[in-house]
Amino acid sequence: MTIADFRSDTVTRPTEAMRRAMAEAEVGDDVFEDDPTVRKLEERVAALFRRPAALFVPTGTMGNQIAIGLSVRPGDEVLMEEKSHTYHFEVGGASRLWGAQARLYPSDRGVPDAATVAALVRQENVHVPRTRLCLVENTHNFHGGRVVPKESITALRRALPGTVRLHLDGARLWNAHVRTGTPLADYAAHADTVTVAFSKALGCPAGSAVIGEEEEIREARRLRKLLGGGMRQVGVLAAPCLVALDEGFERLAEDHRRARRLAEAFGVDPKTVESNILFVPVPDAKAVEAAFRADDILVIATSNTEIRLVTHRDVGDAEVERACAAGARILGRGGEGGPGA
Ligand SMILES: Cc1ncc(COP(=O)(O)O)c(C=O)c1O
Repeated sequence: MTIADFRSDTVTRPTEAMRRAMAEAEVGDDVFEDDPTVRKLEERVAALFRRPAALFVPTGTMGNQIAIGLSVRPGDEVLMEEKSHTYHFEVGGASRLWGAQARLYPSDRGVPDAATVAALVRQENVHVPRTRLCLVENTHNFHGGRVVPKESITALRRALPGTVRLHLDGARLWNAHVRTGTPLADYAAHADTVTVAFSKALGCPAGSAVIGEEEEIREARRLRKLLGGGMRQVGVLAAPCLVALDEGFERLAEDHRRARRLAEAFGVDPKTVESNILFVPVPDAKAVEAAFRADDILVIATSNTEIRLVTHRDVGDAEVERACAAGARILGRGGEGGPGA
């Protein structure tokens, strides 16, 4: 039986069309800014978000770290959501690379309350760090793909003083857009910078983009070089991203439907599953992960008591039904007819 891989949407294989585009990509040296495929992608992404400029970067982590680097000096403070990727999974980059310290804000499963976050901004005082940046993750990975509504981002921008910049970690912003119908540009309207990823829901082999104002993206280019992300004939990686943009985002609704189906079968309230990520509470996550693996189904234990499943282009209805049946057997819940069946 083939392996059904629900560990992450990053495991998706590039499509034939993407592979063809890679083979045929027109390339140049992107450090000299003359790779035509990269330039085309950057212009297209900037236009999609109705912002002046975008920069192609190898990973979402580098994109977020560049956004932090643009905003802080050593000793400054960055507000991060307590379960955010930037805080937990970027190797302490804010402090390690830029000398900034993180201050965590609580949220309603990923959705920030503007007044709560604004109250954490430091007053100017000789003793304390300066709050320079606030990060928002949308959709929120470790809050189960939760969508942050554009109204929450607008409210946050209004509540924060002008001295505090806003960065949107939109690695899965495409999913938020498909779930809500909110135009991508509306999410970006109140953020100073945005990162989006091509290597997750859109299923490209690699690549993210940082979006912002012209001058800042020029500086971002320097920071990218500093971090070792100045790539050369990288049109071969930008080309599949253009294919993904041509294909559009509608397909993601299928991923969202399948994640809800998994939720029903695993006894999780499907209303809490807004996009393509599902967390399931289990008694012994490592044992459950191993039991699924024995059935050629890959899930990931994200703590001792939780597994995560993520839907993507390479897991269709057949794989989802296999996972539901395995879930019924392993966890003793749900299965064919949904919860309790
Ligand atoms: C919300 C979020 N932001 C950023 C990243 C980092 O992306 P990358 O793996 O491309 O560095 C991830 C990766 O899973 C993510 O989930």
